[in-house]
Amino acid sequence: MLSLYTSRTPKSRILFEENKNYMPYGVSSNYRYFDPYPIYLTKGKGSRVWDVDGNEYIDFNLGFGVLEVGHANERIIEEVDNAIKEGSILGFEYCKTGKLAKIISQRYKLDMVRFSSTGTEATMHAIRFARAYTKRKKIIKFEGHYHGSHDQLLVNVNPLKPGSKVPSSLGIPEEAIANTIVTDWNDIESFEKVANEDVAAVIMEPVAMNMGLIPTDEEFLKAVFELSKEKGFLVIFDETKTGGKFYSGALGYFNVKPDLVILGKAIAGGLPLSVIGGKREIMELIGPGKVAHGGTFNANPLSVRASIVTLTEILTESSFYYMHRLSEMLERGYREIAEDLGVELSVYRWGPSGSIYFSPKVPRNYKEFISIDFSPWFTYFYTTLAKGVIPMGGFNEEWTVSIKHTEEDIRKHLEAAEEGIRKAKEIKTNMPIDESF
Ligand SMILES: Cc1ncc(COP(=O)(O)O)c(C=O)c1O
Repeated sequence: MLSLYTSRTPKSRILFEENKNYMPYGVSSNYRYFDPYPIYLTKGKGSRVWDVDGNEYIDFNLGFGVLEVGHANERIIEEVDNAIKEGSILGFEYCKTGKLAKIISQRYKLDMVRFSSTGTEATMHAIRFARAYTKRKKIIKFEGHYHGSHDQLLVNVNPLKPGSKVPSSLGIPEEAIANTIVTDWNDIESFEKVANEDVAAVIMEPVAMNMGLIPTDEEFLKAVFELSKEKGFLVIFDETKTGGKFYSGALGYFNVKPDLVILGKAIAGGLPLSVIGGKREIMELIGPGKVAHGGTFNANPLSVRASIVTLTEILTESSFYYMHRLSEMLERGYREIAEDLGVELSVYRWGPSGSIYFSPKVPRNYKEFISIDFSPWFTYFYTTLAKGVIPMGGFNEEWTVSIKHTEEDIRKHLEAAEEGIRKAKEIKTNMPIDESF
């Protein structure tokens, strides 16, 4: 099965052999590596990317959910081009940041916001804000949820043996995770056991998008909000991914008001920008001599201007309607393929994103997710790649549709997927799944 991949990508192999001398695994993020060697891309345009061997792919990974505006969006290029001519970093505050803060506050119903550059930085700061406000230490997170690459939340992201608390990386001392409590997603009883008066906050992906795409039980969500009020801790929505899936993110979709919210990825049209926002009384603790929040590249003019354009001109209500419609076509297509081929495949879609599981039902939490046999998934993945479609970023990821995808792109995706699923029925590709995913 791997030969489908290796025969088309000899230049990626050569680059890997060279790059790995200077970069561990030849990549800048563990999530970009897959066996036997990663793919090296040269450029993107619209719904497409190209690799160093000249292969063209219809891209449904979109920078792990970043590029709903499409690759090299003309309007973003124009805005960033104008912005860079006036300086990429000005040091003191950029005059247009307040405008963006107002746009985001109104759209996501947040009293105040601060900007960082990445989801990792934003979740790291959010838990600090929560601790400062509540004067408590403990943070509850859910197994299988990912909140970026900092120690305190890099716990039970993808353990091979779920259940007991385990850091998701070497180099994380016990002390760093001593105040992190891990519990099961979508499970009220387990949550009740850990929700107490020592807890500063619960942080969650309001729809879990780092173990495929898992539906959120709204009764569970309600119970989390109720318990947080009863016990006096904060609810933090990490909307790094979900924030760009509906016009006002998951908080708008579920019509709830978390205490703190993190946004990232799609909101700046491909430029690095993240947001920590929420209730005024919490946000007002941030400031010199009070709660620390900093970052040299925070709200740099390029990201700010790209984000204003993204949110006001590109990711409008009608764009979401379009992306959701195409995504629904994909969902329907996958269900039909499964039925036609008689494969036990389950599908879940939420807005422009969706995922498939080679399992009769969509998992409810990480324990169910990791008990799935992923070997058919890898056959499907390498087959679709060879047919010029990147269906999603990995077995624990999801597809995303951009405003630049067309119905023809969806048809081609489904054609490739059908071939991949047919092969997956016959051949299993055993790939090592390790905790670095
Ligand atoms: C839910 C969630 N939070 C945080 C992050 C980290 O964001 P970044 O990679 O921008 O640091 C990610 C990245 O995928 C994510 O999916």
